[in-house]
Amino acid sequence: MTLDFDFSTDIGGIRFKNPIFTASGCAASGRELSQFFPLRELGAVVTKSIMLKERAGRPTPRMAETPSGMLNSIGLQGPGIDYFLENDLQWLQDQDCDVIVSIAGETVDEYGALARRLRGQRGIKAVEVNISCPNVANRGQVFACNPVTARAAIEAVRINLGGDFPIIAKLSPDVTDITEIAYEVIQAGANGLALINTLLGMVIDLKTLKPVLAGRTGGLSGAAIRPIAVRAIFQVREKFPHISIVGMGGVLSGEDALQLVAAGANAISIGTASFGNPMSAIETRDELRELLVLRAFNDFPSAVGAAHG
Ligand SMILES: Cc1cc2nc3c(=O)[nH]c(=O)nc-3n(C[C@H](O)[C@H](O)[C@H](O)COP(=O)(O)O)c2cc1C
Repeated sequence: MTLDFDFSTDIGGIRFKNPIFTASGCAASGRELSQFFPLRELGAVVTKSIMLKERAGRPTPRMAETPSGMLNSIGLQGPGIDYFLENDLQWLQDQDCDVIVSIAGETVDEYGALARRLRGQRGIKAVEVNISCPNVANRGQVFACNPVTARAAIEAVRINLGGDFPIIAKLSPDVTDITEIAYEVIQAGANGLALINTLLGMVIDLKTLKPVLAGRTGGLSGAAIRPIAVRAIFQVREKFPHISIVGMGGVLSGEDALQLVAAGANAISIGTASFGNPMSAIETRDELRELLVLRAFNDFPSAVGAAHG
């Protein structure tokens, strides 16, 4: 019976075979996960955020456990865009999976330069723009936490990418009104939104009474942040009924995913859950499909935003 169910989804005008994606930074370029299942089983692989140049990441320790979640301060470690294009993108194409490339910059110009490198590339379905990065030109204030810089980063990507791929702007929940930032990035040319990135947190070591993480603060992810993700998706969907939303934040099961879908997500990215269970994305995909069939939905899009109205 589940075979007839149309599980495909549309993000920014592009069709994906199912709505379960990886979350950026939680599966690198997919090589590790591919030991557990064929990557083409996913709706899409979202790559770790790629920067212009090679980066070492932040000093260790850079992971701490928290109640129902984790705190990480990995920083955007990686070999840079040229290496990615020459090695990982080709490998991903060989896996026959749909790829969303995530990019991150430290200045508006860097976002523009990254977009220029992606222009015309084969094997990419969409570009996710991680704007939860410190803006070196503005005392390290995160792009996504300021409407002006959030807009400038997305504008730079839009201008330099041309019309080649849909742009998904990934927003931070660490703001007073996430719909205000959503408005700015949509005006700047984003075709979709990814909600939510991690929340800034800190854990103190009770022996030393100092922060556990060498970088002091880190991004909180996992089940602990799910209600925040649901709230952010709901608020944005209410104001922008037609924008594509990729939801993420603490999804560990089909039931969790269904909450985000009902709030308004057109696709779901699985992040922290994959560290504990590499099959999590596939299990969530199958559970979600089963739940939707049981609830007599004819197709996936009919369930999106069911919590509204
Ligand atoms: C270890 C780790 C690394 C991450 N790296 C990135 C990244 O490179 N780019 C990005 O946009 N988000 C990154 N994120 C955020 C996730 O993509 C996701 O938005 C967040 O963790 C919430 O989803 P989750 O609770 O399912 O993990 C990272 C998260 C974790 C835990």
